[in-house]
Amino acid sequence: MAVEQRTESERVVAAREQHVARGVATTPLVVARAEGARIWDVDGREYVDFAGGLGCQNTGHGFATAAIHEQVDRYLHQCFMVGMYEPYIDVCRLLGETWPGGAETKSLLVNSGAEAVENAVKIARVATGRTAVIAFDHAFHGRTNLTMALTSKVVPYKRGFGPLAPEVYRAPAPYPYRGVSSDDAIRGLELLLKQDVAPESVACVVLEPVQGEGGFIVMPDDFPRRLAEICERHGILYVDDEVQSGVGRTGPVWAIEHYGVEPDLLVSGKSLGGGLPLAGVTGRAELMDSVPPGGLGGTFGGNPVACAAATAVLEEVRTPAFRSRAEAIGKTVRERLDDFATDRCKGSEVRGLGPMLALELAEPTPELASAVTAAARRRGLILLSCGIYGNVIRILVPLSISDGELTRGLELLEESLGDARAA
Ligand SMILES: Cc1ncc(COP(=O)(O)O)c(C=O)c1O
Repeated sequence: MAVEQRTESERVVAAREQHVARGVATTPLVVARAEGARIWDVDGREYVDFAGGLGCQNTGHGFATAAIHEQVDRYLHQCFMVGMYEPYIDVCRLLGETWPGGAETKSLLVNSGAEAVENAVKIARVATGRTAVIAFDHAFHGRTNLTMALTSKVVPYKRGFGPLAPEVYRAPAPYPYRGVSSDDAIRGLELLLKQDVAPESVACVVLEPVQGEGGFIVMPDDFPRRLAEICERHGILYVDDEVQSGVGRTGPVWAIEHYGVEPDLLVSGKSLGGGLPLAGVTGRAELMDSVPPGGLGGTFGGNPVACAAATAVLEEVRTPAFRSRAEAIGKTVRERLDDFATDRCKGSEVRGLGPMLALELAEPTPELASAVTAAARRRGLILLSCGIYGNVIRILVPLSISDGELTRGLELLEESLGDARAA
């Protein structure tokens, strides 16, 4: 009888299929180890990482390990509501010190981006005494009940999961590549405020400066400012969702810094915890303090080990050296993507801010982008797609990547585009 020969990856994938819910999407990669911008699988294959654990490794795999070890040896969970601890306060201080504006701020720490967005809306509702929330086309804000209502993609995020949270309205967002300008989006928002919801009922707008899951759609230069002006006119709060675009992903600590707009509330997550679950809401102190004690928080929110990691991460991403390296990486990647758009992917668009970059393929269907990410994996590059049509190849490379690794990753990307076109 033939003995079945399985790789370690195949063994784990089979166990995953048996025990893990189908609704959690996975790729066939089974990770054994990671360092900087490299990952090794359980069969010993090495990969260049252009995904960074879905945007959670801006400072590189392993960056915060020493800070984590130090905290692990001191104490673990306490629950900030039972016994406060300084790492939590340090992260809130650093979020205040890196705040993109002049306001005095306070912060709240939670476990996930979705939880942070929900809390920003809670705070905005209490602070304004209003209930309605405006989200935008192509938005992604999470998978909890309120945040899936804010998110703008039916499959896989919403279908069958209703009823969705009420009082959520959707405005157009600029998407110049697909024909929606800032003027169109502003007109759409003004119409929404006439047609569907009175401005004086709206607590907040929630907008990503670069829409992440929606396709790395960069807000045009004028849009955040024009939106902020409309908000100010009507007493609506501006919630800046920086879960994916923040913590150095676009060069400066917060992507909104590219626009010179000071939001009312800023939501952070993903890379904040350096690989541990941590997210935050930061905002003007009087808004944050509008909620009475007990209204915010949670058992694990602001876990001390995650806070120790976040302190190291924020200290790093605020340095001029981190920013200039991020910008240099962005320049190199953009040049190569521009070449691909000219030579291999005619009609596609390269867009992004700093090193948060993507290539949207011209066909609004997912097949080609999926073929590229699958080919990349076979060749040793971890790559993700995104976008409402699933046709955007996005780059979330750890910004600690070396020049050699970056060159190699871009070569693998070029070869993968070739494989996918040839198939
Ligand atoms: C902009 C944005 N907001 C919120 C979320 C939700 O974060 P989490 O998955 O940590 O709940 C994400 C996740 O991708 C995101 O990109």
